[in-house]
Amino acid sequence: MKSMWINGEWVAGKAGTLKVVNPATEEVIDEVPDATRAQVSQAVEAARAAFALWSKTMAHEKAELLHEAARKIRDKSNHLATLLTLEGGKPLRENLDEMSWSASCFDYYAELQRNRRGRVIPSLEPSQLNLVLKEPYGVVGCIIPWNYPVLLLAWKAAPALAAGNTVVIKPAEQTPLSTLALAEVFEHFPPGVVNIVTGIGETAGQSLVEHPGVSMVAFTGSLETGRRVARICADQVKKVHLELGGKDAFVVEADADLDVAAKAVAWAAFLNAGQVCTSAERIYVHKGVAKPFIERLVEFTKKLKVGDGMQKDTDIGPMIGRMPRKKVEAHVKNALAKGAKLLTGGKRPKELSRGFFFEPTILSNVDHSMTVMRDETFGPVCPVRAFNDFNEAVRWTNESVYGLGANLYTHDAKKVKQFYEEVQAGTIWVNDPLTDNDAGPFGGYKATGGGRELGEEGLEEFQQSKHVHWDFEQNVKPWWYPYGKKG
Ligand code: NAI
Ligand code: MG
Repeated sequence: MKSMWINGEWVAGKAGTLKVVNPATEEVIDEVPDATRAQVSQAVEAARAAFALWSKTMAHEKAELLHEAARKIRDKSNHLATLLTLEGGKPLRENLDEMSWSASCFDYYAELQRNRRGRVIPSLEPSQLNLVLKEPYGVVGCIIPWNYPVLLLAWKAAPALAAGNTVVIKPAEQTPLSTLALAEVFEHFPPGVVNIVTGIGETAGQSLVEHPGVSMVAFTGSLETGRRVARICADQVKKVHLELGGKDAFVVEADADLDVAAKAVAWAAFLNAGQVCTSAERIYVHKGVAKPFIERLVEFTKKLKVGDGMQKDTDIGPMIGRMPRKKVEAHVKNALAKGAKLLTGGKRPKELSRGFFFEPTILSNVDHSMTVMRDETFGPVCPVRAFNDFNEAVRWTNESVYGLGANLYTHDAKKVKQFYEEVQAGTIWVNDPLTDNDAGPFGGYKATGGGRELGEEGLEEFQQSKHVHWDFEQNVKPWWYPYGKKG
């Protein structure tokens, strides 16, 4: 049984507990507290108290502390990645990558904040100084999903702390262990600057969102929960930052190298068993190359190894749980009932009787009336549809409520330009699926929510602007009253 990290101390739970299950074996591996409303409040009060000093901490001191966090993540990456594979199922190799990307995010914001405190702008009168100050909000509530728990925590907590905010972090029910293990990564910060509370989303999570002491909420998760979080924040006119998933398209043009494009699609669709917000969930291939492309994709997919993420040769681990797998099965069933063709997969692997596994699945003959082409599937399913011309592919790409990312394979510069100009999405990947760069923004258009993480934009999200007008003289201004004859 684990404790929570509040005000620099381990705090035991007071009410119920949550069982943490290994999705590859269905075994309970540990338990964490389900924080009470009072305990969430305790964490928020600790963060508020710590804000007074933290918000005034010098940039070079903050930089040292943030770099130290990055160093500790690197030192502990084997331990953290192993915990995350055991609780989340993602292959160990991918979790080791997650730790290195997370460390890199702390290093990036450690430096960026040093020259993003504001600026001096030209004043209206020679006797004046005009300053633009970039200030923190206060306590930021960070609500994190289970698919990339450490990375998405880093993308929120690193810029939030760099900007001078303090944080209360609420990991997802499924993956609290790797997050609690991060307490050691943050223990050199002053007490209360970083707090971690565990618990159920609808209770502990919502208490955090509702707490009047929380000045900003940063949330990654489902559209439905995001809407609820946004409504609560709207009532309190509280700043909210949302990343609510996607239904990313992947367009393969006729000139693409089909051997490369097939492997690119397989990786983009099946990475983390398709449980990535930027998973390729709709593949559009030019009709002239659809047949050879699909043959290559199916042949390659059949060779992928499904299994426990702790095994070195596993390509695709289990899904996170029983209910998410049911949703995937429902999407496949709906598509088949409406005339889709199953080319491979479509079921639980026979040889794996325990664990929430699902075979990598390829469907053709799909259209936009099917749930698998409309709703977020969040599983290892890859539906492929042939398009007649590029304009149609672009139109289909935009046929979604979401606008997170979009992929294109082509060397045709005109098509590349049309794609990045016309596609309503926050990231466009051309011949380079699903990469991130700390220095550039990540986030979405439309119902994805509009929040941006990483890059300068990712720091600005956690800063509010203050404009200072300062006159060194005390003169009567000529534009004051009276408007009549000056006397
Ligand atoms: P969720 O959106 O319900 O959970 C995300 C986080 O929000 C978790 O920490 C959860 O505890 C918390 N939460 C839940 N209800 C809350 C509330 N009322 N107030 C405050 N916090 C709350 O997502 P869930 O149920 O894990 O997954 C459902 C679907 O959401 C997935 O199948 C997938 O389609 C999508 N999803 C998208 C993600 C993305 O990366 N954009 C990540 C996770 C899920
Ligand atoms: Mg939920």
